[in-house]
Amino acid sequence: MSAILDKITSVDQLDVASRRVFVRVDFNVPLTPDGKVSDDTRVREALPTIKHLLDKGARVVLASHLGRPKKGRDMKYTLAPAGERLAELLSMDVMLTDECVGDGARKVVNDLRDGRVALLENLRFHAGEEANDATFAAELAQLCDVYVDDAFGAVHRAHASVDALPRMVAARGAGFLLLKELKALGALVNDPKHPYVAVLGGAKVSDKIAVIEALMSKVDALLIGGAMANTFLAALGRDLGKSLVEADKLPLARTLVDRAREKRVQLVLPTDLVVATSLDATAGEVVGLDSVGVNGMALDIGPASVAAFRDKLLGAKSIFWNGPMGLFEKAPFAAGTLGVARAIAEAAAFSVVGGGDSVAAVHQAGLADRFSHVSTGGGASLELIEGRKLPGVEALRA
Ligand code: 3PG
Repeated sequence: MSAILDKITSVDQLDVASRRVFVRVDFNVPLTPDGKVSDDTRVREALPTIKHLLDKGARVVLASHLGRPKKGRDMKYTLAPAGERLAELLSMDVMLTDECVGDGARKVVNDLRDGRVALLENLRFHAGEEANDATFAAELAQLCDVYVDDAFGAVHRAHASVDALPRMVAARGAGFLLLKELKALGALVNDPKHPYVAVLGGAKVSDKIAVIEALMSKVDALLIGGAMANTFLAALGRDLGKSLVEADKLPLARTLVDRAREKRVQLVLPTDLVVATSLDATAGEVVGLDSVGVNGMALDIGPASVAAFRDKLLGAKSIFWNGPMGLFEKAPFAAGTLGVARAIAEAAAFSVVGGGDSVAAVHQAGLADRFSHVSTGGGASLELIEGRKLPGVEALRA
């Protein structure tokens, strides 16, 4: 068993019958403009833990954040839609409390019968959550005989329900989703099979510096696409017209290129781009790196780049992917991201994808079941790959 799981109790080893089991889930789900859950993956992924606890006769108290409310109780961020979706999936009533702490929440939780479930309203309606406040955590602890963390997407946050609270509860452990995530990402951190190829995309190099640096000591090849590739290409002297380039990160990009050379990591950048003059363009033009034009914006990697990335991916034994290769939400600029998704699906490799956009692309392409692991965490999966200790994981250790 990898060190990442040392001294962490699995939910199925906890004594839960007739006990109030506080389960920190990540129900931070996307909503449609009319307030329905538009992607219920995070709710479905929490079901194995919830069902296990219900089968064992636990009184299940679910808690989550949703969005980043800044004004206290802002109903734009209510967990009601997530609760409704959960009730449908469980075919069971799910009582939503008005607040996550206080008399009302205590009454709902204390009235809960064995094998029933309640959902606390958004933890972030209280400033104590993000402040990791001990008094707020102690209030949550009043609702809790046993603590289970199954919120992989939030374990990188030192917030009260993730960090201070579990440290106050002797009977604590990890849910099945958290264990699955830690095993999959832990395998890439501790014992990746080689060749190990990482694909990084997304808008900014600045968001990914730490992970690029960490991956340099692990991977055989690093493939970079998306707007962050523009910054590397500009650093190497290409003129990218009106493309998104982080001008203040050019020296950093140069340093990373040098670092890759020193470490003998193949740094693979796009060799062609799909360019348009507006984000609303209905078509793009494939051009070489020297033909972007003064008004051109690189919005996807081109077919030659996809072929080169594909070649590396098909030869890999381990793959980590985070971040799209372009503006994949728009069909004319989706081919790079979908091409990478298809190549990874075809590779005979242990493959992990993390991060909202790249995961959405994998689902859009119908390829999720061809990946070894599709992470429910964005920031959490990156911090784990960086080799950082995550507060929510450390707080669970016995
Ligand atoms: C996520 O969506 O990545 C998690 O739910 C964490 O959300 P946060 O970035 O608002 O803390």
